[in-house]
Amino acid sequence: MTDASEKAPQQGRSHGRLKVQVTAVPRDLMEEPRRVKGAWEARIVTLFPEAFPGVLGLSLTGKALDQGLWRLETLDLRSFGEGKHRNVDDTPAGGGAGMVLRADVVDRALRQAMAGAPMDRGRWPVVYLSPRGRRFDQAQARAWAAAEGVTILCGRFEGVDQRVLDHWDIEEVSLGDFVLTGGEIAAQAMIDATVRLLPDVLGNAASTEEESFSDGLLEHPQYTRPAVWEGREIPPVLMSGHHGEIEKWRRAQREELTQARRPDLWAKRQGT
Ligand SMILES: C[S@@+](CC[C@H](N)C(=O)[O-])C[C@H]1O[C@@H](n2cnc3c(N)ncnc32)[C@H](O)[C@@H]1O
Repeated sequence: MTDASEKAPQQGRSHGRLKVQVTAVPRDLMEEPRRVKGAWEARIVTLFPEAFPGVLGLSLTGKALDQGLWRLETLDLRSFGEGKHRNVDDTPAGGGAGMVLRADVVDRALRQAMAGAPMDRGRWPVVYLSPRGRRFDQAQARAWAAAEGVTILCGRFEGVDQRVLDHWDIEEVSLGDFVLTGGEIAAQAMIDATVRLLPDVLGNAASTEEESFSDGLLEHPQYTRPAVWEGREIPPVLMSGHHGEIEKWRRAQREELTQARRPDLWAKRQGT
């Protein structure tokens, strides 16, 4: 495997929250975020660094990014390209449609993306986003959140030369059984699911304990005011103030929903 400490990071870009104050003095839109020592970090290798932070810059994940509770580093794959035109791809060996990202170009980017990161994959997973990969789920988000950070390679075109994936022993991870144009949307979805599990990111930690998948069940239905809407009432038990009864009702709803909608989850749960 490549020695990740050979090169220091140079072409990466750190993302802070976009500031939207009106100011008379022009200034950089992207400002260096606050740094919290040991904060969880996502390093993304992509041909489209401008796609980040994207939705991750909004709401809770954006606020946490701004507060330095996690860090986002993008590495522009193009800057590792070959020659004057910074070529990153070539035609598939054996023929066929489209283009394939070159092994040597991706390797250079990964070496830089891994600079200073632990090579123990438990502490720092290295993944390639791919429809062929293992489907991302809540357990994987929890494992990533428990690590120190993650390096994510976003593919484009027909994908990446297999040799660089084998060389780096990269784990392939999929967002689902469909084909996206590139890995950037998948990366944002997976980082979002991970960052919200980091300590201090969600104000009310209990909300992650009760939501879907936390104990192998889907979440119960939620209601809020008005008490009657379009002739539909909030289930009376939720207005009763009896916390024990409310808990019982919610539990029954979670089990019923999981059995009806996700027999696979239900069977797994019964098995354990
Ligand atoms: C057009 S796709 C390539 C699909 C590839 N030729 C195949 O059939 O498996 C381009 C890139 O989008 C990303 N991508 C597409 N679908 C994805 C999915 N379901 N999950 C994660 N990444 C995906 C991958 O990084 C992939 O390299």
